[in-house]
Amino acid sequence: MEMAFSFSSRACLMVVALLMGLCIGTPTAVAAGRIDDGLEVTWGNGRGSVSPDGQVLTLSLDRTSGSGFRSKDTYLFARIDLQIKLAPNNSAGTVTTCYFMSEGPWEIHDEVDLEFLGNVTGQPYTLHTNVYTNGTGGKEQQFHLWFDPTTDFHTYSIVWTQQHILVLVDGAPIREIKNHADHGVPYPASQRLRLYGSLWDAEDWATQGGRVKTDWSQAPFVAQYRNFTAADASPAVAGGWGYGQEMDATAQQAVKWARDNYMVYDYCADSERFPQGVPRECSMP
Ligand SMILES: *[C@@H]1O[C@H](CO)[C@@H](O)[C@H](O)[C@H]1NC(C)=O
Ligand SMILES: *[C@@H]1O[C@H](CO)[C@@H](O)[C@H](O)[C@H]1NC(C)=O
Ligand SMILES: *[C@@H]1O[C@H](CO)[C@@H](O)[C@H](O)[C@H]1NC(C)=O
Ligand SMILES: *[C@@H]1O[C@H](CO)[C@@H](O)[C@H](O)[C@H]1NC(C)=O
Repeated sequence: MEMAFSFSSRACLMVVALLMGLCIGTPTAVAAGRIDDGLEVTWGNGRGSVSPDGQVLTLSLDRTSGSGFRSKDTYLFARIDLQIKLAPNNSAGTVTTCYFMSEGPWEIHDEVDLEFLGNVTGQPYTLHTNVYTNGTGGKEQQFHLWFDPTTDFHTYSIVWTQQHILVLVDGAPIREIKNHADHGVPYPASQRLRLYGSLWDAEDWATQGGRVKTDWSQAPFVAQYRNFTAADASPAVAGGWGYGQEMDATAQQAVKWARDNYMVYDYCADSERFPQGVPRECSMP
């Protein structure tokens, strides 16, 4: 009896491993061909462009305008990976983004944000993360990065499944937002989202609380994006590949490491902002 059990559970594990291998190995992901297969520049009057070989999408910002792109597809649960190289030197006042957003009325929109807030030369960019559900956000966490994001491309990912939203930097999860809808905490799970990217001026608030303004003598500011991939992470397929289910010990360790060493703001720790107590999801496991 015991042998039969142990045999069948081992066989089962092998099948699971095989399936995972298949799912990772085969493109449920859109293969990274030309970046404009998946993304299209939508605004900026020529300030956004794709290199002739299709490998790099460049956004730029000057005193007149920023620029931006969007994904051609919309998604209901997806994993997206995108490599970004941020504007170097004095990027104070600028914001470079990569975010999911729904298309319906603003009052009920869903959104998952990665925003890179620029800084003066030698001071770190801030990666600002937030989630909106049904028009309501307010779940900010901010991080500095453990590398200079302006000298090389780094991979930034959003994994959005029915279980959770993960933010990954170079493959390491830095933030998990769990789906606590069963405890009445709104979670984006009903609207299709499109991916957007932009480079724009937000000198009123972006850098050091808006105290440092954009230095237009540095313009044009330029950010580059490459190697966009999007994979379906709907419940039908998400079980098969990375982070579809609960985070394993390694992933939890990575989140803890980022929190302990690089997190510079957490809404759950902001008692001044929430004098009556922080939102209840903050104390949910
Ligand atoms: C950044 O600043 C350095 C030193 O001031 C300068 O040599 C370099 O050309 C600047 N890079 C860009 C892209 O402006
Ligand atoms: C979304 O918000 C609107 C008000 O803006 C409210 O009427 C509606 O019930 C909300 N929907 C859900 C699913 O919470
Ligand atoms: C800019 O640099 C300052 C000083 O290091 C830091 O406190 C801040 O978080 C950085 N980022 C922004 C967006 O202000
Ligand atoms: C492009 O992205 C895919 C998926 O994130 C990754 O496996 C691959 O290594 C990337 N290619 C390059 C050249 O970085």
